[in-house]
Amino acid sequence: MKEINIALLGFGNVGRALLRQLEKIGEAQDPKINLRAIADSSGALMIHTPELVNVLLTHKEAGRTIKAFAPAAFLAHPADILKAFQREHIHCIVESLPTNIRDGQPALDWLTAALSQGLNVVTVDKGVMVHGFDALQQAAASGNSRLAFTGTTGVAIPDELADDQVVEIRGVLNGTTNYILTAMQEQRLSFNEALGMAQRDGIAEPDPSLDVEGWDTACKILILANALMKADAKLAEVSRLGISDATQSLIDNGRTTNRVVRLVGRARLWQGRVRVSVAPKLLDKDSPFYALSGTAKAAVFRTAERGEFFSYARSGRDAISQIILDDVRSVVGSQ
Ligand code: HSE
Repeated sequence: MKEINIALLGFGNVGRALLRQLEKIGEAQDPKINLRAIADSSGALMIHTPELVNVLLTHKEAGRTIKAFAPAAFLAHPADILKAFQREHIHCIVESLPTNIRDGQPALDWLTAALSQGLNVVTVDKGVMVHGFDALQQAAASGNSRLAFTGTTGVAIPDELADDQVVEIRGVLNGTTNYILTAMQEQRLSFNEALGMAQRDGIAEPDPSLDVEGWDTACKILILANALMKADAKLAEVSRLGISDATQSLIDNGRTTNRVVRLVGRARLWQGRVRVSVAPKLLDKDSPFYALSGTAKAAVFRTAERGEFFSYARSGRDAISQIILDDVRSVVGSQ
């Protein structure tokens, strides 16, 4: 395939960073990826002239809505939008709507319909994968379409895993908490001082609860467990402990025993079931996560047949754009 047409569903930070990245790489892409539609949860616009993209970006960055840009061409109903995507030969939808970790909606309904109608999907939205993993797989099977979700965890699943049985996944999967823990340990800051620094450095959100309470790690380890271990587990079943000023005593313990504290997500096969947990852990020098400081992330996959495979996760805005483009080429290229 010479060119790939995509539709962006979600026009926030991730969607806009992707557009800037596409513009930066321009013609130097193989195959070339063209933006043909932009949608958010209010509706969609088809893009017939590439020059429009920059004007639309400026319009959106000024805080205006997609609808206000071209009210006459605006499509508001999901069924009309999916029909238009088919008509415009969209090869893949890239979804980055705001994550809803309560039930994955409204994105989950959109993506289920799209996949079942034969449209490929690349998503970076943890909510849809946590709440709709099976439904989305079934929709893709019935529509003969493909779904990729590397951007939800940041972790590339090692090719070497092939069809081996994964019996355990461990991961430091959240950059914000690893940054805070690193500052507490290396700079001897208190939890609140380290959190404040992470917020000033633009790493922690103004409301950091999803990260520090372990929700983000819980979603990511759950997605990996559902994808690789057929865990069929729910977010509410994840045993979850985040980080707080109470983590200081664990850090003090680590200091006297040459160990470090990392927030570890873990999924393991135990008595016939996959148990999923998140908690700060003391790790010694032998741990693959010992030297993983700052916003770095990584995961280890243990298989029944061939031991452990290590994978770094990519993070940051440029990285997420690259992950999306890789996923798009992979789902479209493999058809
Ligand atoms: N808030 C996440 C982190 C980034 O700190 O890793 C998105 O997954």
